[in-house]
Parts: sequence; C-alpha cells; structure tokens
Amino acid sequence: MCGIVGYVGSRNTVNILLEGLKRLEYRGYDSAGICFFTEGTMTVKKEVGKLIHLERRLAEEKVGSGTGAGIAHTRWATHGEPSVRNAHPHLDCSGRFSVVHNGIIENNAFLRKQLQEEGHRFASETDTEVIVHLVEKHFQGDLAEAVRKASLALEGSFAVEAMSAFVPDEIVAVRRGSPLVIGTGQGEQFVASDIPALVAYTREVVWLEEGDLAVVRPEGIRVLNAVSGSAVQRETQRVAWDAQQVEKGRFPHYMLKEIHEQPEAILQMAQRGVLFQGAAPERLFAGADAISQIDLVACGTSWHAALVGKRMIEKMTGLRVEVDIASEFRYREPIVDSKTLTIGISQSGETADTLAALQMAAEKKSAIWAICNVAGSSMTRLAETVLYTDAGPEIGVASTKAFTCQLVALYQLASTIAAVRGTAPLSEPERRSELSVLSKQIREILQREEEIRALASEYRQKRDFLFMGRGIYHPIALEGALKLKEISYIHAEGYPAGEMKHGPIALIDPEMPVVFLVPQDAVYEKVLGNIEEVRARGGRIIALAQVGDERVADQAHHALYLPKNNTFLNAVLMTIPLQLLAYHIALQKGCDVDQPRNLAKSVTVE
Ligand code: G6P
Repeated sequence: MCGIVGYVGSRNTVNILLEGLKRLEYRGYDSAGICFFTEGTMTVKKEVGKLIHLERRLAEEKVGSGTGAGIAHTRWATHGEPSVRNAHPHLDCSGRFSVVHNGIIENNAFLRKQLQEEGHRFASETDTEVIVHLVEKHFQGDLAEAVRKASLALEGSFAVEAMSAFVPDEIVAVRRGSPLVIGTGQGEQFVASDIPALVAYTREVVWLEEGDLAVVRPEGIRVLNAVSGSAVQRETQRVAWDAQQVEKGRFPHYMLKEIHEQPEAILQMAQRGVLFQGAAPERLFAGADAISQIDLVACGTSWHAALVGKRMIEKMTGLRVEVDIASEFRYREPIVDSKTLTIGISQSGETADTLAALQMAAEKKSAIWAICNVAGSSMTRLAETVLYTDAGPEIGVASTKAFTCQLVALYQLASTIAAVRGTAPLSEPERRSELSVLSKQIREILQREEEIRALASEYRQKRDFLFMGRGIYHPIALEGALKLKEISYIHAEGYPAGEMKHGPIALIDPEMPVVFLVPQDAVYEKVLGNIEEVRARGGRIIALAQVGDERVADQAHHALYLPKNNTFLNAVLMTIPLQLLAYHIALQKGCDVDQPRNLAKSVTVE
C-alpha cells in the first residue's frame, strides 16, 4: 500500500527517487509524485497512473537532477480518487513543507476541521494532507520537532517522510504501524518503505521501530522516540538481498521470473535445513506446559499456505491446528491462552491484519511465531521465533515463489514438531533429500511451459473457471483460482470437490472449464466420480494428474501428468502448472501481469 522513498546526498536526487519508486511500484501504482530542489526552489511534480507517466513528464520538462533532499511516493488510493490533486507529496499552505505518507490517518476528519478553522487551506481529499498542515502549524525553526509534534496528534497507521524549504539537506521520517527502512551510505542516506528501493546503493540498513522518528542528513541519521523526543539506538544490519535479485533479468515479467526461481529457492531450503531464529522450538512442544493448540493466521495466498499447513501439522504431529484469515481472527474473540502458539504467515511481514492478529494473540498470552520472507520486517520483530522462507525478494503482485516456500517451511515446521513429539516419519537428512528431489521435479514441470501455454490459448476467452481438489489439494485449488482471478480478471472459484453437488454443479455447462487436482491418494476414486459428474453435464475438464495414472486421461479433455513426491509435497508440484496457467492466460489477454488493477502486494492498511 503506497511506496515512499527519500534521498539526501550529492547524487542525482531525481534519478535516485525515480529508481526507488520503480522498485516499490508493487506497493501501489495509481499515481506518483516527487518533491526535490531545483535551483534552490522546492518543486513538486505529480502524475496520475503508473510511474512511467511521471517519468515522461519529468523528461519532457527537463527538470534536471535536483540537489540535496528529495522525497517521492507511489500511491494506492485510500482517501480520495487517484488524481493529480490527491497524489503525494502534499504541501502546506505556504508551499514550504512537503510530506509523503503510507497508511491511514483515522482522525483525519476531526483534524482537517480543526485545521480549517485555524485558517489552513486544503488542496486535496486525502487524509495525508492534515499531516503537512500540522507540520506547518508546529514549525518553529526545527523540522524534526514540528514533525514530532504533528505525529502526536495523529491516530492510525503511518510512515511519513517530510522535507522543508528551510532545511534543504534534511528529511524527517516517522513511523507508527507502517514500515520504514533507512539505507546508510558515505555522505548520503536513503529512506524507503522497503529494501528493494535502496539495495542498488547500499546494503547497510537501519529498520525504524514503532514510534521512531529519524532525522536524516547526508552525514548520518539520528533516531528519536517520537513521544518523548529522547534519542534511541538502532542497530545497522546488512541486507542479504542484492541489487540483481530485484531486477527482471532475462524474463519479461517479475511473476515469470519468480515462478522460475522456485527450484533454486526450494533447493536452498533443502540444503540449509530447518533454521529457527529466536527462541528454540523444543521448549514449546515438550514437558507439562507444552503447547496444546496452534493457530495459523494469514491473509491472501499466505492463508492458503496456512490451510495446507494445518493438514500437514495435524497429520504429522497429532496437534490441533486452527486456521484463520487474520482480519476475521482479530474480531472473532478467539479462544487463545498460554498453551496456544499463534503463527503468522506472511511474505512481506507487513500485512496490517496479520500483524494486528498476532498482537492480539500476544495480549492473550499466546506464544508468537512467524513464517516470513522479509528479514527485518515488522512481523519478524514481533515474533519470538521466526522460520524464514528463502524465496528472495518477491516483486510480482501475485505471490508465487513465496507461496511454495511457505509450504516447504510449514512442512519443515511440522516435521520438527513431530520429531520433538516422537512422531516424525523421516529423519532430517531424509527430509532434505526429499526436498532436493522436489526442486528437480519443479524444474521438470517448468520445462513443459509450452504445454501450458497451449492450454491457456484454448481457454483464455472463458468468463469463468472452477478449480476442484480434496484434502490438501483444496487450498491448492483455492490458490489456482486466486492466481487466475488476480491477474487475468476471469471469475474463478476454488471448491472442495466433495462440495460440488451442493452448489457449483449448477454452473456446469460446455462453457465452464473445471480444473481438477487428481492425486492418486485415498480419495482418488471420489475425485474421478466428481469428474464424471462434470463430464455428464458437458463441462470442460482439465486434470492435473500424476504419472502412472491410466484412467484420468479417458475422462478429462486435457490431462497434464506431474511427477510424484510424498503426500504433502505433491501439493507443491500441483501448484506450479496453476501458476503458469494463470500467467499465460493473463499474458494472452493482454493484462498487466505484474501490476494487476486495484491490487497491491503489501497490504499495510486494514
Ligand atoms: C496481498 C498480496 C497477496 C498476498 C497477501 C498477503 O493481497 O497481493 O499476494 O498473499 O497480500 O500478504 P503477505 O505479505 O502477508 O503474505
């Protein structure tokens, strides 16, 4: 949800800000804007639509490079339609203060009324604009103090960067509820919502904590507590990701690149083995005070991983597992106590609802863990133990490699708990070798992309799709449907195949493609029965089957044969063709695969 970038230093400010915004466009892309100094004057330029429109305008107007401080923003609208007026940065009445913001100011209406009564004139419909007027109101020669006082009046979540014509080489950044990271360099500093914006320039970073305010100047940064104004110490960390990982490389889209990175990412997880950071897991699963229930909370694709995880953990460990969509969990008054372990699953580690759900569970004395892809993110700092997915940066809005790595992490987690409880079927080296085989098998499937491209061209005109699976394949069917609807805008639903007769069968006609996931497991015959029923009603059947299955080809209009691994890891294999199918249908329909309409990769507001 909105990406913000800031720079102070002696390089080309405009270029650095634009490059940073490009890397953050996955966070929102309905309008963009930039504020910088040109010949000593603070200048703001904004455009509606993707960043490219702003870039073109800056090039046409030959705005030059800028000097000193600059801030920039790519927006995902919450308050007010996408328009030049509502795009950030926002200015105060005098045009001497400028602010960009990610988050939501909940007491915006109240503050706006108050400021208007005091004589401030508003130019936009955004909640953000109150911040810059508050800064103007409180400024008495010290920008940091004015931003600090402004932040105290704000309710809601925010990451803010402010600059002023009075101090052309300073940015003041403050966070509460939305992420901010500072990249430190020699004589220059970078501020951003996320690492990809700055990794091309520096890998030394400082993550701001809740309630931190940073005064950022070329020679260094000073971090204060925004409430008390007293100095706080924050450690500098080295980022593991490099600049190349945030490029598309030889691929036309991030999504395709990320689909193809899955074998390598899973191989790394196999070679590394299970690595928990923080408190050792053994403590929780042995002895009289052992955990008796696990709650998995997540949103979107990560929720689908949680649904698979439930089946893995329950089967392998005998522990009861609950799964919740985080936005439901936080308002349903769940039964959680000190014998509960609540695990947040999140690619970004910044999803507002998942963070809030974990905070609520912590208040009820639950132990808090995270399965996360971004080191240093809010969730990793909230959790006492983190199990990292080694997927590397994921930039395509539709999650692919992060999902399959989450499945692998959940499998590793289930195996570890099972080992502590004495129910593990395999030893750690055996598990590692299974995962190495999985990586090879994914590679094999990816080599058959042509088959899937052909299937996509046959079905790309359809208006609706159904995806059916049973057991562990039900969440995979949900994920297949989600991928397709997110990027191709085709209406798609996932169902447990056993529920078909309770509703979706009414939709079946020759125009309805139904993707069946058909593993050779205990419910194989049942799924074949469901396929028969769709066939009898004229539906088009695409079956994802396993090698050696002689019967499914007679029933389905298309059968795609996949290699076999163990019961749980087969779910990972079934995911790959579904990702490719969604990608190729969206591509052939001319959709913007990496930045689908209305979506954002990181949902940092409720
Ligand atoms: C958004 C993204 C999804 C993602 C979900 C949860 O909706 O578009 O791809 O699955 O957020 O994000 P998280 O970072 O918590 O996994």
